[in-house]
Amino acid sequence: MKKTNPVKTRAWLFLEKHYEDIKNRHMRDFFKEDPRRFDSFSLALDDILVDFSKNRITTKTLELLLNLAHEAGLRDMINSMFSGEHINETENRAVLHTALRRQGDEPVLVDGKDVMPDVRAVLEQMRVFSGRIITGEWKGFTGKAVTDVVNIGIGGSDLGPVMVTECLKPYAKPHMNVHFVSNVDGTHIAETLKRLNPETTLFMIASKTFTTQETMTNAYTARAWFLEKAGDKKHVARHFAALSTNKEAVEEFGIDSQNMFEFWDWVGGRYSLWSAIGLSIACYVGFENFHELLKGAYAMDVHFQKEPFERNIPVILALIGIWYNNFFNAQTEAILPYDQYMHRFPAYFQQGNMESNGKSVDRDGNPVTWQTGPIIWGEPGTNGQHAFYQLIHQGTKMIPADFLAPAQSHNPIGDHHKILLSNFFAQTEALMNGKTAAEVQKELEAAEKSPDEIAKILPHKVFEGNRPTNSILFKKLTPRTLGSLIAMYEHKIFVQGALWNIYSFDQWGVELGKQLAKKILPELEDERPVNSHDASTNGLINAYKHMMG
Ligand code: F6P
Repeated sequence: MKKTNPVKTRAWLFLEKHYEDIKNRHMRDFFKEDPRRFDSFSLALDDILVDFSKNRITTKTLELLLNLAHEAGLRDMINSMFSGEHINETENRAVLHTALRRQGDEPVLVDGKDVMPDVRAVLEQMRVFSGRIITGEWKGFTGKAVTDVVNIGIGGSDLGPVMVTECLKPYAKPHMNVHFVSNVDGTHIAETLKRLNPETTLFMIASKTFTTQETMTNAYTARAWFLEKAGDKKHVARHFAALSTNKEAVEEFGIDSQNMFEFWDWVGGRYSLWSAIGLSIACYVGFENFHELLKGAYAMDVHFQKEPFERNIPVILALIGIWYNNFFNAQTEAILPYDQYMHRFPAYFQQGNMESNGKSVDRDGNPVTWQTGPIIWGEPGTNGQHAFYQLIHQGTKMIPADFLAPAQSHNPIGDHHKILLSNFFAQTEALMNGKTAAEVQKELEAAEKSPDEIAKILPHKVFEGNRPTNSILFKKLTPRTLGSLIAMYEHKIFVQGALWNIYSFDQWGVELGKQLAKKILPELEDERPVNSHDASTNGLINAYKHMMG
């Protein structure tokens, strides 16, 4: 990866100047000046329309942002990722989640070896296995078919399958249930197991490393629960599968190698739902739908790799994000799906984005002097409207937001979907236009308020507007469309990391807490007070010991 300090580029200097010209301009005026703004500032891929016209940008802004992408060598960086170079330099790995959804026969080389035959072999293993589970051909230790799949994993080995199985509920096989246990808090597994019958339950231990403390603790608890009922260890083979890169650890746990679904170190944890980690998805919605998901992601990959940057959806979304993050100093981005099935979509990209781009050292190892990854959050509309939208509309912080909605609902009941979508359209319009003091004045006069009342209430009812949004409207939440939407955000994250000159595919920041927890665990088992930490940590641990009596 080329290592360009973004703030030292010519494009950045021009963007800084341009920001001064534009920072006080209102989007309302942009729309007045250019009635064709929607046409110029929207892009489509298949059934997905991305309208980015409600942003504080002009043609000039885009031109300068595109210059930044070119000057930083983005095209070459994209090619480096797709061609299997070790762009994850701090872990010395390729980054090839795109190979997992690649269609066609072209090879993808990692260190001179074509990885596609292995990818296809595991997909075939997943197809056969999920088929046997769904048809009931696979039997448990008492001869009964599997009805419940429990995925035990955390982070990237959990959030993707959770999000996708929620999104694709309308495609679920009616007799299949899926559960997810991630938290090491015993409550998570206890509450899940309460509802399950060991005879008809299949556990999938999903862990790239097969060493993650939370996952292994839950996996051993699940095995103990199962053996308590099943008795003989030989039955484990019918009820436990492993999704991992670590064969030895899987064998050591006692899972039959026949039930191991492999993936590789070039699949990042938070980019792994396309790999064997997606087995719970395939068992829940059928392999044909899992394959559609892959095809949708592939369509976005081709778009991202081939389209010129000015027509490239992930590139444009990434550049607009940089515009707010680095020039307007926006701290966060909201993801607001107007689709109940997508309720875990923001949480999924919380990890996707924040674990990837939450970095403060550049690719040369120097502290960055520019802002990197934003804080990602969100909830489905319209719930969010009645919770936190107040701050987006009238607060002091700029919160660029993505609004996502399907044109067609899977549940067309009465007026529900039209009401939902009227809110989807209204919110971005309100955020863009706002409401001026003159408009409020008129409204209050029409309501026959006295001049005194008007003077008192008016400032509180003014909406400044000029609050940026992207609207992502798609025909229906199908497996294919979902695949494209996920890949769209993945590539947006890649572009931003590439331009911020940081490494997006490692996550060293999660290590320190893990190491300290390992050190503290034995201290909790010892009754004596501790004094080896700082005063606060000592105080807390000793208070805990006291409370435990
Ligand atoms: O949170 C850190 C992390 O390494 C994530 O990147 C990963 O998705 C998660 O832990 C789980 O790791 P594993 O799949 O190895 O259990």
